[in-house]
Amino acid sequence: MLSILLNINGRDYPLQVESNWTLLYVIRELLRFTGSKYGCGTGDCGACKVLIDGEAKNSCTLLARNMEGKKIVTIEGVSQGGQLHPVQQAFIDAGAIQCGFCTPGMVITSIALLSKSPDPTEDEILEALGNNLCRCSGYKKIVEAIHLAALQMQEKEVVS
Ligand code: FES
Ligand code: FES
Repeated sequence: MLSILLNINGRDYPLQVESNWTLLYVIRELLRFTGSKYGCGTGDCGACKVLIDGEAKNSCTLLARNMEGKKIVTIEGVSQGGQLHPVQQAFIDAGAIQCGFCTPGMVITSIALLSKSPDPTEDEILEALGNNLCRCSGYKKIVEAIHLAALQMQEKEVVS
């Protein structure tokens, strides 16, 4: 076992981990942040995405022991002060919520995209979502939700 310290959702967690444990395993099984899902386990579906230093990454392909010193945010950590993140709200408002397996990863990807590109084109959105698989959706409403979130986040910035 290795002793590591992970910063997740703004809090430090001292942990004992095996060297081959993935970040997803630690997040879900040790810390019980179960919003991140195990879909494929091979980096192909995006169900396990978390923010790592602001970038959306598949936690199933990362070793927990390599994540020390990074800021990790799971879907449980994106809301602030009891308020949903604007992306979460926009998914609801646009009717873009899919199942509990794919939606958290899609929200994480969208937050990372909007932090880099506050007014993304449809092509940029579809490219960003390329690693978030859902065969049950045509992605149309998800794209609409991201446009809506972009608009609302920009308006908020103007007001604040
Ligand atoms: S479970 Fe990680 S990408 Fe599918
Ligand atoms: S995988 Fe979630 S609705 Fe298709």
